[in-house]
Amino acid sequence: MRKPERVAPELLFQFCFDLPSIPQKLDWKSLFGNDRPVELEIGCGKGAFIVHAATTRPEVNFAGIEVVRKYQLYCATRLARRNLKHAKMACTDARFALAWSIPTESLQAVHVYFPDPWWKARHAKRRLVTPDFLIWVIRALKVGGAFHLASDVPDYFQASVAILNHQPLLVRQDLPDDRGTITNFERKALAKGGAIHHGIWVKPTAELPPPPPDPQRLFSVPLPSQHFP
Ligand SMILES: C[S@@+](CC[C@H](N)C(=O)[O-])C[C@H]1O[C@@H](n2cnc3c(N)ncnc32)[C@H](O)[C@@H]1O
Repeated sequence: MRKPERVAPELLFQFCFDLPSIPQKLDWKSLFGNDRPVELEIGCGKGAFIVHAATTRPEVNFAGIEVVRKYQLYCATRLARRNLKHAKMACTDARFALAWSIPTESLQAVHVYFPDPWWKARHAKRRLVTPDFLIWVIRALKVGGAFHLASDVPDYFQASVAILNHQPLLVRQDLPDDRGTITNFERKALAKGGAIHHGIWVKPTAELPPPPPDPQRLFSVPLPSQHFP
């Protein structure tokens, strides 16, 4: 991975955030210093989406959650170099953050671009998009909020659509003509001639699904240890 030009730690920390201790929830207003809408990106990788979105939409706050420390710092460095103070990065498992730390009905959008495919059948249970994960996403979204998903793995995308089709509290929306930023993984997939699958689902009502009975179940399938700092 090409190293981004370093920035001073005092500056870098302004573009990072931590989850509060349980049972406290994140307070977006105090984190960003304003009460603009907040959008969450899960699995930012090298940050193409969050950097582009924060550059082009200064009226929105962006929170990025990346489970790998070096990518959290890579993204935070890119944000710091552009002085995009309305975007910040945390290093944690986003499933944990959704279940414990993100306030209910607090997000305008959740973005998941090219989630890890976990190709082997025995690893499929590690995939991010599951029925429980989507319940937490719906609970975190405001009315009218949107869940964005893109993948170049047809069976993962179709499995996600099947779960979403069973979820009456999210309604699929047409894609805009301009699909927006191309992420690092999207670029790689396109270079190999792969097709990109992209969907947007909107939460039309204030109805909330009950939380899954055992929040721990969501991340009872731990990610491999190299994913943690
Ligand atoms: C295949 S990469 C895609 C990166 C980027 N979205 C892109 O399209 O270029 C998936 C990213 O999700 C991160 N990730 C995987 N599981 C995660 C989780 N539970 N919470 C937060 N990040 C996660 C990985 O560390 C990795 O950076």
